Amino acid sequence: GGKRDLAGKRVLISAGGTREYLDPVRFIGNPSTGKMGLALAQAALHRGANVTLVHGPASWNVPLGVQAIPVVNAEEMQQVMGEYFTSADIIVMSAAVADVKPRDYSTEKLPKRSLPQSLPLESVPDIVSQLAKLKQPHQQLIGFAAQSGDIITPALEKLQHKKLDAIVANPIDKTDSGFGSDNNQAVFLDKQGRHREIPPCSKLQMAHHLFDFVSNGKN
Ligand code: C5P
Repeated sequence: GGKRDLAGKRVLISAGGTREYLDPVRFIGNPSTGKMGLALAQAALHRGANVTLVHGPASWNVPLGVQAIPVVNAEEMQQVMGEYFTSADIIVMSAAVADVKPRDYSTEKLPKRSLPQSLPLESVPDIVSQLAKLKQPHQQLIGFAAQSGDIITPALEKLQHKKLDAIVANPIDKTDSGFGSDNNQAVFLDKQGRHREIPPCSKLQMAHHLFDFVSNGKN
């Protein structure tokens, strides 16, 4: 339908996978394509929101009307999300942030013969946890938890530990769902204890279900 329930709202979305380079051509990353974040941006735009999409390297075109800011690694994503956070009403963290980065970076391509046998790693900042500390009561902060096996328990832990308002528990071991797919399935959970199971559907439909869920949960 032509629901304009997000008119006048600012929606900030993190999307895609981040990359942590060890030299100009090699990185630690993940298979996230950012399609879920793109769908969230489309849905929010359709519902009348002002949309900012902070995304990792992607192959799709940004919808007209969405402010898109490309980033590469977690530190850049953290910086840009921090800049836009205060003015946002709804913040959806759909990005798959690479958990670790190589300790060292070589500005020259490392020759094969001098590639290290093991790679010293450092952890990257947990962006959503940092943002949660700045959260004002009118803001809604929503995370994603991509999991295999039991998706509920780890999602509930992340909801509490990261101080989120709601979380999308997202199975990555089901066919035609998760990374790279045009479709998805999920269970939405929130801090009031509400939960809603969303059977397989397109990522755009999933995005609309999520905005329905969080607007119903607003007190
Ligand atoms: O990777 P993890 O399962 O912990 O991700 C859960 C949520 O935290 C997701 O919403 C993800 O975007 C966010 N996250 C983040 N910064 C990280 C790791 C995860 O914002 N470094």
